[in-house]
Amino acid sequence: MILVTTAGKVGTEAARLLREQDVPVRVLVRDPDKATPKALAAAGAEIASGDLEIPAGIDAAMAGVSAVVLVSPAVPAQELNVVASAARAGAAHVVKATSKASADSPIARRRGQAEIEAGLAAAGIPHTLLRSNAYMQNVLALAPTIAATSSFGSAAGKGRAGMVDARDVAAVAAAIAASPGPHAGKTYWLTGPELVSNYDVAAVLSKLLGRTITYRELTFQENKDAMIRAGVPEQIAEMNAQAFSLTADGDAEWVTDDVPAILGRPGRPFEQFAADHAAAFS
Ligand SMILES: NC(=O)c1ccc[n+]([C@@H]2O[C@H](COP(=O)([O-])OP(=O)(O)OC[C@H]3O[C@@H](n4cnc5c(N)ncnc54)[C@H](OP(=O)(O)O)[C@@H]3O)[C@@H](O)[C@H]2O)c1
Repeated sequence: MILVTTAGKVGTEAARLLREQDVPVRVLVRDPDKATPKALAAAGAEIASGDLEIPAGIDAAMAGVSAVVLVSPAVPAQELNVVASAARAGAAHVVKATSKASADSPIARRRGQAEIEAGLAAAGIPHTLLRSNAYMQNVLALAPTIAATSSFGSAAGKGRAGMVDARDVAAVAAAIAASPGPHAGKTYWLTGPELVSNYDVAAVLSKLLGRTITYRELTFQENKDAMIRAGVPEQIAEMNAQAFSLTADGDAEWVTDDVPAILGRPGRPFEQFAADHAAAFS
């Protein structure tokens, strides 16, 4: 049995792919009555009701689990609850979704990821780190603005990123959780097949939608304020705007072969991601 800790972008697709291969999978969610857990249950996944803040519920979900796909908003105390539970239950492997973790990063989220990674190493459980570049799905957060105004802005400037489709991150997580042996102790840096700037994003969307989509370079503060106006909590808006500002300075300008090496097929390019989500931008 594989436990997937949440039914977000990566967890949902990882669980779906594992069910497609008839692998037993259990997904821990806060609200089993939401549409996504219901769809996963219909696909044959077990749904465990719980909150990453509450160890007893995690322990119940951990029963009989051989491997864990640890993916969540990565609040250190919450993910370390999962690590401790996996250690108590003797789980054989943890696949941890993470980012450019670093204990001295200016971004709190990356310092938190470093804390979780250190806790996982200290727990002594064989594990694999998936350090992903920016998810293409982040662009979906801009979709309502793009649909309404045919424009979008960011503090990422002219910076390019090896953006990866979260569906490919999920496919890698599922493949490793199903056959973890050769991946123990490995860190993979997951990217898409190419470097993409926001000017490239605008060009791809313009071609796809048949109308001009304009990209505007924003300052850190303008970007943070725009996200807050769109309903993003201030702390998250701050971290996102910091990450975009670092992208402007080349922080995300890396592409690897880890996705094709593990999946045996290329990662999805941004053009395909955009085509698959065209309706959201229309
Ligand atoms: N976005 C990027 O560009 C990027 C890049 C690299 C790495 N990453 C990493 O990817 C991970 C996030 O993965 P994702 O994008 O798949 O996540 P996501 O789509 O944001 O989903 C997070 C899920 O966690 C659930 N959740 C939140 N708090 C919870 C709690 N206390 N107990 C149980 N469930 C809880 C939410 O469920 P409900 O709210 O529905 O209950 C939601 O389904 C993070 O580690 C992040 O650092 C992201």
